[in-house]
Amino acid sequence: MRALILALVTILLAGTVAGERAASGPLPRGYNGLAATPPMGWNNYNAYGLEVTEQLIRETADKMVSSGMRDAGYVYVTIDDGWMAGTRDASGNLRADPERFPSGIAALAAYVHARGLKLGIYEDAGVKTCGGLPGSLGHETADAETFAAWGVDYLKYDNCYAAESCGQYTCSSSNETERYAAMRDALLASGRPIVFSVCSWGTDAVWRWGAGYGNLWRTTADIQPTYESMVLLFKETVGLGGFAGPGGWNDPDMLEIGNGMSAVEDRTEMTLWAAMAAPLIAGTDLVHADAATLALLTNRAVIAIDQDPLGAPARVVSSDQGHYVLERPLADGDTAVVLFNETDTAAVMAADLSGSATDLWSGESTPGTIRTEVPAHGAMLYRVGQS
Ligand code: GLA
Repeated sequence: MRALILALVTILLAGTVAGERAASGPLPRGYNGLAATPPMGWNNYNAYGLEVTEQLIRETADKMVSSGMRDAGYVYVTIDDGWMAGTRDASGNLRADPERFPSGIAALAAYVHARGLKLGIYEDAGVKTCGGLPGSLGHETADAETFAAWGVDYLKYDNCYAAESCGQYTCSSSNETERYAAMRDALLASGRPIVFSVCSWGTDAVWRWGAGYGNLWRTTADIQPTYESMVLLFKETVGLGGFAGPGGWNDPDMLEIGNGMSAVEDRTEMTLWAAMAAPLIAGTDLVHADAATLALLTNRAVIAIDQDPLGAPARVVSSDQGHYVLERPLADGDTAVVLFNETDTAAVMAADLSGSATDLWSGESTPGTIRTEVPAHGAMLYRVGQS
């Protein structure tokens, strides 16, 4: 009898420990109360790679204010890989590269906060970042506390060098949920609201588990500033809308607007990303961006589709030899409709509607059926409703 009771107690205790561990498993989408709509902001990586400095971040923050980007909703200014010194300090804490960031990250956070912006930073769920700098694996609590103390508001958490024995990308799917849960829980424990961006490039069908671990999750490999790359990421992501919603979003990577695609293609990226409820993280060299690029990024009617509070990403209602029609239900009962012509030849495309349609790029309204020529690589975006 004693032996039986002892065994039962042991089982119950084991159950408690297992239960505690299970608390590090998936949490409900929206677990941290952040990102009710897809995050919007800027990140240096697409335009500058690892060549990031505090001067660039300051100049970009200023430009985000003066250009109207901030007021259009782009509030997160994120420093990507390359910001760290090559080693931790004597206490094991992360530190910024003293030459590139002589004032330190806390001063930079204060600078962007004073301008009504928020600061994002980059780290990695492995032993090294993709650029070879110190990773957070095994240092999650200390690093989350460091970020919180500095005033960081957003963490992009990459997936290179998942263990000492791994190459840059070779073990990216090993222990992924544990590694991401460790930082998620550390961020929660820090007490500071920090948006958590899971940058695991679509490994292990991250859309199936991402919402339990972060506010957004990369669905694909890195975007390139080409039409082909942008369309590939659209195709890889558009069918995953059912996994996303308020608090957790599919992330087909940062925008390449202004980085070398044609004006038509730039507009197509903005249209498709808005339809998919993708995070709108400009990867543009904003300091030198021209007026057309800024106008495209700040179109309020298009941004309103991306940020619609219902948070229901578009689905493909028809696709025929590169001619796509997408629909997205909106919170006020309207519907967003996209006509996308992937092909290299202009095409007349049509959609039957009930109600009047406003072309969100031209501002023109048409009642009834939409029938229009869509340029090669072009996309039209309409808001259809009773008004
Ligand atoms: C990975 C990420 C990119 C960028 C680089 C930085 O490739 O997917 O978005 O952060 O690392 O090294």
